[in-house]
Amino acid sequence: MKVDIAIRVNGEEWSLDVKPNRTLVDVLREDLGLTGTKKGCGEGKCGSCTILMNGKPVNSCLVLAAQADGAEILTIEGLSGKEPHPLQVAFAEKGAIQCGYCTPGMLLTAKALLDANPNPGEDEIKEAIAGNLCRCTGYNKIVKAIMACTSADRK
Ligand code: FES
Ligand code: FES
Repeated sequence: MKVDIAIRVNGEEWSLDVKPNRTLVDVLREDLGLTGTKKGCGEGKCGSCTILMNGKPVNSCLVLAAQADGAEILTIEGLSGKEPHPLQVAFAEKGAIQCGYCTPGMLLTAKALLDANPNPGEDEIKEAIAGNLCRCTGYNKIVKAIMACTSADRK
């Protein structure tokens, strides 16, 4: 049995037939070829699969594709326009990327935070990214990169 779903991903409409047990991360990566979304633990513990669903960060390994029917999805492929997103520039400039595995999810979590609160404090940033694990950077450079994109820093 399959389920018909309609989702909008990075501004593009998709109508898909999916098995009810397939996760959103697998459909994004395997069916739509959007492999920028990483799959680490597959059980909601690492945050590498974070995407924005209706503007909110979610672990796409914990969402069934069928549950995303009607949703607006943003993946890392949709973050930048012709130019890199300011968060991407800041991550590169501050050395907040090493192996890069956590980076797509981290960037989308940061975007959701700044969309909701353009001027978060350091503690709010740390709290927002608490579900996104990074085994390389020690987090300080990531926090600094996000701080560099707050409205207070840009004034
Ligand atoms: S792969 Fe989804 S939280 Fe780890
Ligand atoms: S840069 Fe390697 S896991 Fe974050």
